[in-house]
Amino acid sequence: MIDCIGRKINYLRISVTDRCNLRCDYCMPEEGIKMVDHSRILTFSQIADFTKAAVSMGIDKVRLTGGEPLVRRGITQLVSEIAKIDGITDLSMTTNGVLLSEFAKELREAGLMRVNISLDTTDLKRYSQITRGGDIHNVLSGISAAKEAGLNPVKINCVVDKSSQEPDALKVLEFTKLNNLNVRFIHKMDLKRGEFGIVEGGDGGNCNICNRLRLTSTGMLKPCLFSDFEIDITKYSAREAIEMALKIKPSKGLVNKEGNFYNIGG
Ligand code: 5AD
Ligand code: SF4
Repeated sequence: MIDCIGRKINYLRISVTDRCNLRCDYCMPEEGIKMVDHSRILTFSQIADFTKAAVSMGIDKVRLTGGEPLVRRGITQLVSEIAKIDGITDLSMTTNGVLLSEFAKELREAGLMRVNISLDTTDLKRYSQITRGGDIHNVLSGISAAKEAGLNPVKINCVVDKSSQEPDALKVLEFTKLNNLNVRFIHKMDLKRGEFGIVEGGDGGNCNICNRLRLTSTGMLKPCLFSDFEIDITKYSAREAIEMALKIKPSKGLVNKEGNFYNIGG
């Protein structure tokens, strides 16, 4: 499918929950978030039906995000439903890795192809600080489990403050080299202030070649992370919602006053 200014759209990012088992300082307020009522969260069949329609229109790349996707109950079931859709050539997940040692094998068996795991430092104390209480050992064993399960490639997402030359980032770089992992440095963004960082080693943040649509856990289809436009997919057919999103996808992001990473999924 092609959007209003000729960009090819083939990538759908689906946030399956706004909840998370960490509280990263750049993502969530310390006290946590107002939890969305369960009744507003899309069911697995709503997500799967929407994805089927999107794939029939040209989506071939799907990523599950959150919040933290692994805290959504039954996530493996959703992965297997999506993996069954004919026409998806790339099915991935962005996770903080905390629960991966438990889930990696079943996710791979369900048809997940690869994962991006968030790791902003390799230092135990710094990790606990940044995530407000997380234990880095969980992520490290999650990373091993992902590799063992055959999820490939395993990529590391490292959020940096200003530069990939910061001490934490350099340590993460070294860790990824030693462990044969891919790393992407994501510059910290502030959606509300219109600060959009670039992603070193990825193609996010480049409006000219943006190929994405995003679906939030409450069923809002967002043509752009950096804009407040959204379409409620429960009010239209999937095809209508997607056609509207293609029409209003901005040529360039501006500000997003309402959105947060934990509900749009980055
Ligand atoms: N700036 C940049 N990336 C962010 N993420 C969350 N909050 C921010 C932010 N303020 C992204 C990170 C993290 C993923 C879950 O969401 O990439 O790894
Ligand atoms: Fe959770 Fe990811 Fe946000 Fe950290 S960045 S609080 S792991 S959703």
